[in-house]
Amino acid sequence: MNKREIPFFNYPLLFNQRRDEYMSALEDVHSRGAFIMQKDLEEFENSLQEYLGVKYAIGVADGTMAILMSLMAAGIGEGDEVLVPAHTFIASAAAINHTGAKPILVDCGRDHLVDANSVKRNISEKTKAIMPVQLNGRVAVMDEIEEFAREHNLIILEDSCQALGAKYKNRFGGTFGIAGTFSFFPAKTLGCFGDGGAVITNNEEIAFKVKMIRDHGRDPNDGKVKLYGFNGRLDNVHAAILLLKMKYYDEDISIRRKLADIYHSRLSHLERILLPPPPESGDHYDVYQNYEIEADSREALREHLSENGIGTILQWGGYCLNDFDNLNLDNDLPYTKQMTEKFMMLPMHHLLTDDDVNYICDKIEIFYG
Ligand SMILES: Cc1ncc(COP(=O)(O)O)c(C=O)c1O
Repeated sequence: MNKREIPFFNYPLLFNQRRDEYMSALEDVHSRGAFIMQKDLEEFENSLQEYLGVKYAIGVADGTMAILMSLMAAGIGEGDEVLVPAHTFIASAAAINHTGAKPILVDCGRDHLVDANSVKRNISEKTKAIMPVQLNGRVAVMDEIEEFAREHNLIILEDSCQALGAKYKNRFGGTFGIAGTFSFFPAKTLGCFGDGGAVITNNEEIAFKVKMIRDHGRDPNDGKVKLYGFNGRLDNVHAAILLLKMKYYDEDISIRRKLADIYHSRLSHLERILLPPPPESGDHYDVYQNYEIEADSREALREHLSENGIGTILQWGGYCLNDFDNLNLDNDLPYTKQMTEKFMMLPMHHLLTDDDVNYICDKIEIFYG
């Protein structure tokens, strides 16, 4: 096969693929002057509610704000500890910190998701909540975590920013606890053309508080400020784009799942890399936000792929939260620490073709001989 150029993510194509439809949505919103909290936001929220089968979906500025606002609405604050995996974006811990609570890092397992045993080891009298991070488009095995949370009266609040539409035992990521949170960063499975996010919940009080917090603490019924909030709204124009993209969401996910299947069938015989589980795996329905592997001789592999026109990325720049010395979060995290030496992401998005993925697999097979 001739040399190809496969960037890790193709941002221009994200827009150009359905350019005409996006342009007419943009034209429509702008010509109506519908910029802040207009019907497009409400329609998008309704469509997300319907898709996930939840009572409330609230569009907010981004995934980080979604986490912060739902923690605040759940009453997490000063003196509380929240258990969160070390293999996550800084946003998860930053949101906890901004409420006044303390993030306590827990380990992940071979699936790169929260390890229930590590959760159990790290509980203290101050633990108020567990924040499973449903990473890479996969929902963690939640049974033990739910049981443990019930026994110890802990809140579950999911950072499901990377897992819109992913399921475990037929339940959607984001619906296991008091609230779930999503990011619509452009490279996400449902990405807008800027920053965006949402909180989902079945709890009326949480929903009402998040609605107030995202809009300066104002009560939507009488406009009076009832608490200190933020300007944390999802822009109406982003909501219009997201509403349009919802139409294609299942189609886009099925492309990702097909590509994951190709990666799996082409690479699972290689002993020097560890792959994520394939699409048809037991109780899980994965949406493959990312295709994160563990690779021996990682840097040499990345260089070899780069020479062949293939972009790869290390999630979080190659650091987990325990690596940020200034934040003082280090803990007992054996799997996370060994994984950090090997984790990397191969290209994975709905704009790739089967041929692209076969080309990437050819080059990986050549590398490992
Ligand atoms: C796991 C996780 N949590 C939180 C966030 C924060 O979302 P945002 O970038 O929309 O603020 C992200 C987004 O990158 C994420 O991947």
